[in-house]
Amino acid sequence: MTQQTSADGLRSAQWYGGDDRNAYIHRAWMRRGLPDDAFEDRPHIAIANTASDLTPCNRHLSDVAASVRDGILEAGGIPLELPVVSLGETQVRPTAMLWRNMAAMATEELLRANPIDGVVLLGGCDKTIPSLLMAAGSVDLPAAVVPGGPMITGSFRGDDIGCGTDVWRLSEEVRAGTMSAAEFRSSESSMIRSRGHCNTMGTASTMGLLAEALGMTIPGVAGTPAPDSRLLVAANATGRLSVELVKRRRTPSQVLTRASFHNAIVTLAAIGGSSNAVVHLLAIAGRLGVPLTLDDLDRIGRGVPCLVDLQPAGRFLMDDLHRAGGLLAVLREVRDLLDPTAMCIDGRPLVEHLDDARVWDADVIRSCGEPVLADAGLAVLRGNLAPDGAIIKPAAASPHLLQHRGRALVFDSVEDFHTRIDDPDLDVDADTVLVLRGCGPRGYPGMPEVANMPLPAKLLEQGVRDMVRVCDGRMSGTAYGTVVLHVAPEAAAGGPLARIRTGDVVVLDVARRRIDIELGDDELAAREPSAEALAAYARPLRGWEKLYVDHVLQADTGADLDFLLGSSGSVVSRESH
Ligand code: FES
Repeated sequence: MTQQTSADGLRSAQWYGGDDRNAYIHRAWMRRGLPDDAFEDRPHIAIANTASDLTPCNRHLSDVAASVRDGILEAGGIPLELPVVSLGETQVRPTAMLWRNMAAMATEELLRANPIDGVVLLGGCDKTIPSLLMAAGSVDLPAAVVPGGPMITGSFRGDDIGCGTDVWRLSEEVRAGTMSAAEFRSSESSMIRSRGHCNTMGTASTMGLLAEALGMTIPGVAGTPAPDSRLLVAANATGRLSVELVKRRRTPSQVLTRASFHNAIVTLAAIGGSSNAVVHLLAIAGRLGVPLTLDDLDRIGRGVPCLVDLQPAGRFLMDDLHRAGGLLAVLREVRDLLDPTAMCIDGRPLVEHLDDARVWDADVIRSCGEPVLADAGLAVLRGNLAPDGAIIKPAAASPHLLQHRGRALVFDSVEDFHTRIDDPDLDVDADTVLVLRGCGPRGYPGMPEVANMPLPAKLLEQGVRDMVRVCDGRMSGTAYGTVVLHVAPEAAAGGPLARIRTGDVVVLDVARRRIDIELGDDELAAREPSAEALAAYARPLRGWEKLYVDHVLQADTGADLDFLLGSSGSVVSRESH
């Protein structure tokens, strides 16, 4: 790994040390109230802040940054707030995932280009923590994450509601005719009541918890609700720790080891976390050169019980998890499955932090003897429909559909799906397998969260609430259903998904980890890819979209850009000119 500090001092001294004209310019333009000793052996710590009015889940992070700033100053460092690319999951079009790699690349370059010795990473909404960790992994400067925390529990007509999961449920009720549009609208402000990210076990909650499981936070902070003043206490402590990290030269590559990814995979199953974590963990590992594959996710997660009874798999919300003891209490229950060698940024093994953890509400955090689900690992499927792999989240699926045989009904794009799905004459029944293609990293482009396709209205009216669905896109971490997603290679990359036709028989067998079309390999290979599917994404591209489509990798390796794999370290060989 490339060096992160000069041999005899701070990395920032490469900018500020000495009496030449360049050092003069670097110091003079930065002074603006900083004391003279700011440039004399005090670590300069960036606060990479994804606060943005257009990322509502992260809007409060400037308050968190103020506490980080205090902690850095108290420990003798110089805090430097650095606004970085922010992505509001619910706001950006066509999908935030299109911009994850851009955010990671921009943050990486900013961290490397600037005179800093370490960084505190402030994220929350789905893509922000993954992009920050990818960036930090590639620069490998001392780094610590403060997860922004979930919002408090929603309340509608006397019932708790979770953002995300209950949006799907309520919208299906409207489509089924059991809730009016006015009632649906009135639930909006009841659902989103405070600062913070989604409070279900969606992607934001999952990635905040996984940042802790990976060892990249102060232990015990992940899941602290955004309005809880203890988040500010932890932010202060993280600011202080960041100065210590620089002094000890403790970098992400020392923390994000194969052992820590092992623990993250165990955690992902134990919390019933989002399927989106798969592409994020693979991408983060790819930045550090840690060998991690889909098969590792299946193997390590297999047999790990889901202990957290949170929506979408269960009943409670993130506030309840925090009240019940938080992540450390969950991990204490599965301690034997964790790799004891994995370290945290505080220099201690993760498992050492479990000794004092307690479960305060056994309904929210179950014991291994009474799990929410006995085997909650994400299942990695292969077969002639997904030679490079696909995943399914059994915890969010209907048990009776985990082994299923049904006739395919194929849609060539999201638009094609929406045009036809509610057609009263659509030839579909509860056994049909809905197949949606053109939604992979390259095809959409950006791999949107559309795999949990809404069910046909006429089946909803008949009481059908789940069907087998297959897609090369992703699924919202707050969604549920028997959905085979991340199919690789995607249709746009020439995968068999481009060759399946309506009427083909699809066989799903999760126990055997198979997803197949009942068709001989020769017959499948001889078919021409669907012209409609290819036409859906054959259009001129420019800018980031073109760069992305030309270089994005498939979901089975994390959907990063091919030229962003690995690390460039923190060294910049040239002076400022
Ligand atoms: Fe930001 Fe759900 S929309 S976390």
